[in-house]
Amino acid sequence: MNQKEQINLSAVPKHIAIIMDGNGRWAKQQGENRIYGHYEGVNSVRSVVEGAGEVGVKYLTLYAFSTENWNRPKEEVDALMELLVSTISMETAELHKKNVRLMAIGNLDSLPKSCLEELNESIKLTENNTGLTLVLALSYSAKWEIIHAVKQIATKVKNNELSVEDISELELEKHLCTHSIPEPELMIRTSGEHRISNFLLWQLAYSEFYFTEILWPDFRKIDLFTAILNYQNRERRFGKTSEQLL
Ligand code: IPE
Ligand code: IPE
Ligand code: MG
Repeated sequence: MNQKEQINLSAVPKHIAIIMDGNGRWAKQQGENRIYGHYEGVNSVRSVVEGAGEVGVKYLTLYAFSTENWNRPKEEVDALMELLVSTISMETAELHKKNVRLMAIGNLDSLPKSCLEELNESIKLTENNTGLTLVLALSYSAKWEIIHAVKQIATKVKNNELSVEDISELELEKHLCTHSIPEPELMIRTSGEHRISNFLLWQLAYSEFYFTEILWPDFRKIDLFTAILNYQNRERRFGKTSEQLL
């Protein structure tokens, strides 16, 4: 049986989040510059989006650009923004045909105008689609997201719209970029790095982590299926004992 056939379709994670890492190292291995790796990474995105749809994942969040990534050399940042615009403009029709809904999280106002316009257009076009929701994390940082939420809550308290006693997990979640999205059951990071890099700190509180040595441009849907199978062999205890789960 291949990977896909082994997956228990009634226990597929509703939400998978991926830190797509290793484009630069992949390019270096090929004797190319880092930007070539980012371009190749788009093929992996296409394959993973397709695979997620095939097994019924409802939400797929891809970490495409972190707040910290603005500190990379200007040529690389510019190339990534251009790639973002061209990829969205080229792929939207296909995504729409596949009933994919596009969303974005992060400090989107800091993106170049052309990027934001292209993004908003695709989001608008696909907003009523009912298949996979593809969430792009762009200029995203979890600490930024939490501070942003805290500021909104503080303003509500100041305006007497909320009492301090009513600040709860639910209230904070309402103000996160991911307010309409369930928490990821599974987080995947490629390229052998074992860290979160400021990704979804709040939402990953109880997620299962899957790390693979595969560099992002080599990652394909079969690798996503392998990660899902690995996830399905774990026991999620949420603080309880094994026996309590029986
Ligand atoms: C991930 O690949 C893509 C982004 C962060 C935009 P990297 O560019 O981080 O590749 P490595 O980690 O240097 O190999
Ligand atoms: C994390 O990758 C961000 C994205 C994948 C977009 P990085 O390659 O930027 O992470 P660090 O800096 O090595 O932790
Ligand atoms: Mg990296």
